[in-house]
Amino acid sequence: MSVTNKFKKQILCIGAGYVGGPTMAMIAAKCPDYKVTVVDINAARIDAWNTDHLPIFEPGLLEVVKISRGRNLFFSTDVDAAIRDADIIFVSVNTPTKTFGEGAGRAADLQYWEKTARNIVKCSGSDKIIIEKSTLPVRTAAAMERILNANDKGIHFEVLSNPEFLAEGTAIADLENPDRVLIGSQMNESGLRACQEVVDIYAHWIPRERILTSNVWSSELSKLVANAFLAQRISSINSISALCEKTEADVKEVSRAIGKDCRIGSRFLNASVGFGGSCFKKDILNLVYICECYGLTDVARYWESVVLMNDYQKRRFVQNMLRVMFNTIAGKRIALFGFAFKADTGDTRESPAIDIARQLIEERAHVVISDPEALENAAHDLGECGSSSVEYVGDPYKAVAGAHAIAIMTEWKLYMELDYKKIFDSMEKPAFIFDGRNILDHQKLYDLGFNVFPLGTTPLKHF
Ligand code: NAD
Ligand code: UGA
Repeated sequence: MSVTNKFKKQILCIGAGYVGGPTMAMIAAKCPDYKVTVVDINAARIDAWNTDHLPIFEPGLLEVVKISRGRNLFFSTDVDAAIRDADIIFVSVNTPTKTFGEGAGRAADLQYWEKTARNIVKCSGSDKIIIEKSTLPVRTAAAMERILNANDKGIHFEVLSNPEFLAEGTAIADLENPDRVLIGSQMNESGLRACQEVVDIYAHWIPRERILTSNVWSSELSKLVANAFLAQRISSINSISALCEKTEADVKEVSRAIGKDCRIGSRFLNASVGFGGSCFKKDILNLVYICECYGLTDVARYWESVVLMNDYQKRRFVQNMLRVMFNTIAGKRIALFGFAFKADTGDTRESPAIDIARQLIEERAHVVISDPEALENAAHDLGECGSSSVEYVGDPYKAVAGAHAIAIMTEWKLYMELDYKKIFDSMEKPAFIFDGRNILDHQKLYDLGFNVFPLGTTPLKHF
């Protein structure tokens, strides 16, 4: 029996990034009867997927990859051959915000998606199911159907939407035990048949009642709306953190009190220096753009305010640092603890730390960045800033020696476990801590001699 015939179906994923890699590793591990190939035009990324040094840091990912790599999971750069052989193609290429032309700064840049669609047409010799895994504007499937089915080979492509809801840092748990999987299709016979094929894949490990099916437009839109609602909660609590600082209320107590109401729920109510990550801002701006295109200006303004509030929170954080450090930070050494956009990832895309570092550098501070996983990305993000204003130091104790202030940017557990007495002794006095994630024991730090500035509550100052 040939390798190909051993398998029930051949699945291909185009795009071996944060979504494509982990998602396909989970499908391959749970569905040994399917052959899963992941391709990318980035050869270095594919090479890394074939080693034990995976191209992304994600807890538990290597273990899952190792279950099936070489058995029914393959990483390759041969995009064309993989398209030819596939029955089902997930497309998980990047869909960043457009930086040029109409809709620049808001609309989704669909060039990678469309190139992929055209390549699928070129390389295919048989009918295929094409699945939008990337996050896309509502009604993209209509354009894709048109491009794909305009072929003169008599091939039928059925386009489905199966957005991904995993969060970085918890991707493996999210994929293994998702709240739901969503599959959108056309409501005609071939759409529903294709939908069932994809349901069958997920049903290998996910209870049927958590596999939702819907029409393709609802599915596309639900992904944008889920991210918009999550980000809206963070902007809402961040706005309240500013009010708490003026009124001696404590935002953590407010979060706890409102979160006990099961209609509100307790998650995603941690005030922070701002949300980051590659998707929240891009997806909300895309939602804003779509609303504008349909003439829904008020709806657009409503969602845009979520992003504006996030910008305000980042700006406010630096303005506060400046004000309490006697209105000048020029020449002062400031250690940023964390640069990743959240803990347990090395990803720094849209990390609030990028804006904070830039604003501090603009004020002529000397910024020292420490992070257990993200220093390489940080150096790339701040490449234009030059070595005279920014340093990258892995060891937090070394990063902080001689510093005037520490600002917590990422909620890494290691920052909760440091010896802050040792840190205090090595710093310039008065020593300041700005806890942008509210993860430290503020009273203990104050007792050690620090001036402590948590988010959303009264500071603890010795002056
Ligand atoms: P990514 O940038 O990490 O990966 C995308 C990959 O696609 C890159 O490696 C790129 O080289 C590859 N690619 C681009 N064009 C290609 C082509 N023509 N042929 C082959 N490969 C090509 O992006 P990501 O974070 O994995 O996100 C992918 C999509 O998933 C986006 O739409 C994003 O909004 C969505 N999403 C991301 C997350 C997340 O946690 N990062 C979660 C849910 C949804
Ligand atoms: C988010 C969503 O949670 C996923 O469901 C979605 O699939 C994904 O975006 C996507 O489409 O890319 P992710 O960005 O990986 O996942 O991480 P989150 O846990 O959502 O955190 C996003 C940002 O919000 C981080 O900067 C985080 O620190 C911040 N955050 C989160 C807060 O500031 N407060 C909170 O209470 C929660």
